[in-house]
Amino acid sequence: MDKTWWKEAVVYQVYPRSFMDSDGDGIGDLKGILMRLDYLQELGVDVIWLSPVYQSPNDDNGYDISDYRSIMTEFGTMSDFDRLLKAVHERGMKIMMDLVVNHTSDEHSWFKESRSSKDNPKRDYYIWRPGKNGKEPNNWESIFKGSAWKYDEATDEYYLHLFSKKQPDLNWEHPELREEIYSMMKWWLDKGVDGFRMDVINFLSKDQRYLDGDVRYGKQHGDGSPFFMNGPRIHEFLQEINQRVLSGYNLITVGEMPGVSPDEAQLFTGKERGELHMVFQFEHMDLGGGPEGKWSNKKWELSDLKRILSKWQIGLEEDGWNSLYWNNHDQPRIVSRFGDDGKYRVESAKMLAVCLHMLQGTPYIYQGEELGMTNVCFERIDEYRDIETLNSYEELVNSCGWTEERMLEAIYARSRDNARTPVQWNDSRNAGFTAGTPWIGVNSNYPEINAEKAYNDPNSIFHFYKKLIQLRKKHEIIVYGRYELLWPDDEQIFAYTRTLDEEKLLVLCNFKDYEASYSIPEGLNTMSATLLIGNYEQLPIEEISVKPLRPFECRVYQLK
Ligand code: NOJ
Repeated sequence: MDKTWWKEAVVYQVYPRSFMDSDGDGIGDLKGILMRLDYLQELGVDVIWLSPVYQSPNDDNGYDISDYRSIMTEFGTMSDFDRLLKAVHERGMKIMMDLVVNHTSDEHSWFKESRSSKDNPKRDYYIWRPGKNGKEPNNWESIFKGSAWKYDEATDEYYLHLFSKKQPDLNWEHPELREEIYSMMKWWLDKGVDGFRMDVINFLSKDQRYLDGDVRYGKQHGDGSPFFMNGPRIHEFLQEINQRVLSGYNLITVGEMPGVSPDEAQLFTGKERGELHMVFQFEHMDLGGGPEGKWSNKKWELSDLKRILSKWQIGLEEDGWNSLYWNNHDQPRIVSRFGDDGKYRVESAKMLAVCLHMLQGTPYIYQGEELGMTNVCFERIDEYRDIETLNSYEELVNSCGWTEERMLEAIYARSRDNARTPVQWNDSRNAGFTAGTPWIGVNSNYPEINAEKAYNDPNSIFHFYKKLIQLRKKHEIIVYGRYELLWPDDEQIFAYTRTLDEEKLLVLCNFKDYEASYSIPEGLNTMSATLLIGNYEQLPIEEISVKPLRPFECRVYQLK
């Protein structure tokens, strides 16, 4: 297997709005990130992925960009950015930018021109269609609810927006538009940024027939995803991006790809394909989905999670590469979702960290995950800020008859705002995030869960993550070893081995809040095992196969 730095790296995602506010306006900013670089360096991460920092009216917190070459006013200036980049590099770390090129803001100058008249030179930068029988061009539903088309009076046509009305989709069929994007990407790379995380990048190529999607029972709109996910020209576009831009630099790239399978991911990340390094797949995050998508919050079993992650491990082991994540700015907090955010918060957060970081792939840590930050339960819907949450509330409660209680329960479990409450730095007012009024409420558990406390406690989740990162730097097997799942049907323990030449790791994770017995499989020699990392005090080696795993216990053994 090829060895490269981005396989060995650990990425840390910063969602700038909620990370650290330096000027008291209640919104995190670039100077705030600068203030916390020592913290990130102490943790040991290699790459910082910045969620969008570009000029934006913030309909979707920066994922609606109105100017790709300037910094969002609330976050600071381009000089602040340059200072941040320099400081990150001085500390031996790198910066990965968020590249959002499936859509822009409707306030981008391109869109303003595009909508102004049918013969404006920028008209075809976006996707315009006439209505059909006085209605939308087709029945596609927006990912943020409602129709994916918006009528625009000025030219009596509709534009496509797969996300909010203020996020019109770009038309990648148009060569000039592609050139604009490539020149913008080069502009950032020439500044010295080290890579891109590419927002919904497998949505770029739309099936040009714009056919209606299937309408599920009880639904008003159709599902257009078969016509825009992994569309007809997607590989061609990604290869062009690679040839025209990426291949000239030593970068890290990851494509966010809802609805992608391991076979498809192999095409996106295979070594000879010249596309991307890795993708963010969603299958493990989609567990519990149902008729109302993630809001359905159905039951699932541990064996489902193991099956999915193992399929990805095996699917990309020969060619391609995995990204590993539990959390990001779109997902609820993992300790609340797959762990226990009450009695066993610390144990389960550590177990989840081990379970993920010992897999094969590049691990991503989302801000606050290393502190075991938890989901939030705001009492009232007007305390939520996320457009997806608010639009879904509107539709499900006001049009589909869900009770407010039912919807709030679903929001507590799955809202993106769970991840977006401010990082809890210390136990002072607003968790030390801002001297002003935070743009979204701080989780009330901050006196207990905060970075200062974690830093001062050698047994904290923070120090555990730090140790995991150090182990990755010391043991090649953690990066490159071959993965094999043990006990696929066990609903309590997630166990697997990693193998590199003569070396073997045995990873045992108890996902439940009660003890789990097991016996070491034949063929694994634990006689001279050493414990690499675990989240309880160590057992004498002769007891390892006798003593059950304690609640949420994890152990990683190095075997000879
Ligand atoms: C995926 C991003 O992660 C999410 O936050 C955003 O709302 C959509 N793409 C649209 O850009």
